[in-house]
Amino acid sequence: MSRGVDTAAAPANVLSIAGVDPSGGAGVLADLKAFAALGAYGCGVIAALTAQNTRAVTGIHPVPAAFLALQLDTLFDDVRVDAVKIGMLATPDLIETVATALERHRPRFVVLDPVMVAKSGDRLLAPEAVATLRDRLLPLATVLTPNLPEAEALVGQVVDDDPVAMAAAGEKLRLLGARSVLVKGGHGHGETLHDVFVDTAGTLRLEGPRIATRNTHGTGCTLSSAIAALLPSRPAARDAVREARDYVQGAIRHADRLAVGSGHGPLHHFWRQDPAIT
Ligand SMILES: Nc1ncnc2c1ncn2[C@@H]1O[C@H](COP(=O)(O)OP(=O)(O)OP(=O)(O)O)[C@@H](O)[C@H]1O
Ligand SMILES: [Mg+2]
Repeated sequence: MSRGVDTAAAPANVLSIAGVDPSGGAGVLADLKAFAALGAYGCGVIAALTAQNTRAVTGIHPVPAAFLALQLDTLFDDVRVDAVKIGMLATPDLIETVATALERHRPRFVVLDPVMVAKSGDRLLAPEAVATLRDRLLPLATVLTPNLPEAEALVGQVVDDDPVAMAAAGEKLRLLGARSVLVKGGHGHGETLHDVFVDTAGTLRLEGPRIATRNTHGTGCTLSSAIAALLPSRPAARDAVREARDYVQGAIRHADRLAVGSGHGPLHHFWRQDPAIT
């Protein structure tokens, strides 16, 4: 506004609140790539540093809660944030801090990726924090994006890799306060992979072949960020979800073009801009 530009026509300002994965495959670094690839302006507030590569997480260093609050308040005081993506928050204190800040600043769209365990199998959220996340952040979510184990932890019962069971879990999570829920099937084992989206209008099944690649580090981070980047400009959440999923499928399909690490490598966030891909 102060700079005399047409703010309505400006790209969406999208904020990632999450951890840092130095390999750039997940966390805030990956989120900013997804925002940029989809035409949004990216901001980042760091909740935790991690020592991490494509094989393992070897350390987590959460930011003090008061400093997380200071980062959020300072940013929101100046920047119009159109959408927020929340990723790894590590501790109940940090979850509480983010909930308080969101209640104060009320961004229009919130995508909550309830990150609990890294692709490498390392734990990213203290077990006692699951209840805090469910009680404090879930009711603030426009779109909640649990994978199968996270959906199980949040509903407190087994969720089978089957669209009907996934839709039932999504509906339970919606009744707990999330405006809509995308239950992701990446952790299933069938040849066909389904994600199931649930909102007040009903259930939307999104499915396709499971892509054979080891390079799936940050699929969840990238998907939730893509949804946040698109929500401000799409007519409904389900449109943003469908389009974000297509973008992530391409990023997985072309992940093997990158050569980053020897474990679960990152997705190719800029596959649409890569001149070698036709
Ligand atoms: N091998 C694959 N082939 C096609 N799509 C996949 C594959 N693995 C994951 N996806 C898709 O990636 C998106 C993220 O789902 P996933 O269940 O992997 O999330 P996640 O477990 O939270 O990821 P992360 O381990 O990065 O946190 C979903 O849309 C899912 O369908
Ligand atoms: Mg995840």
